[in-house]
Amino acid sequence: MTQTQEPVIFDQGTVDRANALVARYPVPRSALLPMLHLVQSVEGYVSQAGIAFCAERLDLTTAEVSAVATFYTMYKRRPCGEHLVSVCTNTLCAALGGDAIYAKLREHLGSEGRPLGHEETSGEPGTPGSITLEHAECLAACDLGPVLQVNYEFYDNQTPEKALELVQRLQTGEKPAPTRGAALTDFRQAELQLAGFFEGRDAADLDGPSAAPETVRGAKIAADRGFTAPAMPDNAEFPPLPEKK
Ligand code: FES
Repeated sequence: MTQTQEPVIFDQGTVDRANALVARYPVPRSALLPMLHLVQSVEGYVSQAGIAFCAERLDLTTAEVSAVATFYTMYKRRPCGEHLVSVCTNTLCAALGGDAIYAKLREHLGSEGRPLGHEETSGEPGTPGSITLEHAECLAACDLGPVLQVNYEFYDNQTPEKALELVQRLQTGEKPAPTRGAALTDFRQAELQLAGFFEGRDAADLDGPSAAPETVRGAKIAADRGFTAPAMPDNAEFPPLPEKK
């Protein structure tokens, strides 16, 4: 009788990286967040096998790892596409056009008259040109809204037309330059970087523009007008807290 061999999901390279993560912290369990990104970089999501892999190496139960993996939205429970497109639909971006951008992309990426849903994928997950779409809460770039991210890199001041063109280019294999930050890769490579591993990336790729003029406009106006903040006192008195009833 021949025994069927389980396919190896996490190869020796992944095990070595996991060990390197554990070695970075005083206690193994502190490595959980980067290790979840590591397993996500292998499979494009956090699978049950990924949860077991983390639990085994960090001396945690699978229930404890699952509790963390299901709490944070950056850990995906279904396989993602080559690219993850996150459209900010929080208040400011929504009012400036984020809702219209999201609706446009849902319609474009859907099929048979059904718009694509939140965290659904157009195309076979992981294959070239496949896109997972999600709506996101505030991406901390309100001064540049409406914004979207591809694999967590920013594309600022979007319109439905600009966003559609961007996604169409991603689907044909192009990697248009983000407005700020590092050059675009793909979702799995971005996850490897979030785990703290930058193999195969040139320093030049990672060193993109960061502060946008809009972000520093207030500081510039203050500097031009000679405004300064009062010095912090050495011993600041805190106001008394109201009594709890
Ligand atoms: S509301 Fe969209 S970045 Fe803040």
